[in-house]
Amino acid sequence: MTDLKTVFDAAGGMPFFENLVGAFYELVAADPVLLRLYPDKDDLGPAARRLTLFMAQYWGGPTTYSDERGHPRLRARHFPFEIGGDERDHWLVAMRGALARVQPSPEVAAEIERYINSAAEALRNK
Ligand code: HEM
Repeated sequence: MTDLKTVFDAAGGMPFFENLVGAFYELVAADPVLLRLYPDKDDLGPAARRLTLFMAQYWGGPTTYSDERGHPRLRARHFPFEIGGDERDHWLVAMRGALARVQPSPEVAAEIERYINSAAEALRNK
């Protein structure tokens, strides 16, 4: 992004991230490769809230995630889950599916794509 707006604002603020992550978790719930990793498969609501707040904070929104959870330390927080190439790819397909559903502007979509591609690979731990 080249203007002074944060990606958070450009995307439409918190409702955008809630809708994106809501769509993402619907796809997670329907994907056994992803769902088997989740400690609480019957209630993905708290996991969805954490991802929503993390993404909102990452792109310049409120710092509620760190207020509640401390420093993200995403790699450490993902160590308990076996994330190989297959899991990484399923996560990315679900997030791309969610993006297709909520249809951000091309600029916002490109920013999110860029981040998730590198972050999902960085979180691979097997
Ligand atoms: C762009 C890549 C990713 C980001 C930004 C991300 C972000 C997050 C965040 C913020 C949490 C909550 C951490 C906490 O506060 O406890 C989380 C949890 C989790 N992530 Fe990821 N993640 C990514 C990739 C992945 C991948 C590739 C997998 C496996 C396929 C995965 C599986 C999980 C699981 C199983 C949890 C626990 C659910 C929960 O919060 O209760 N994540 N992730």
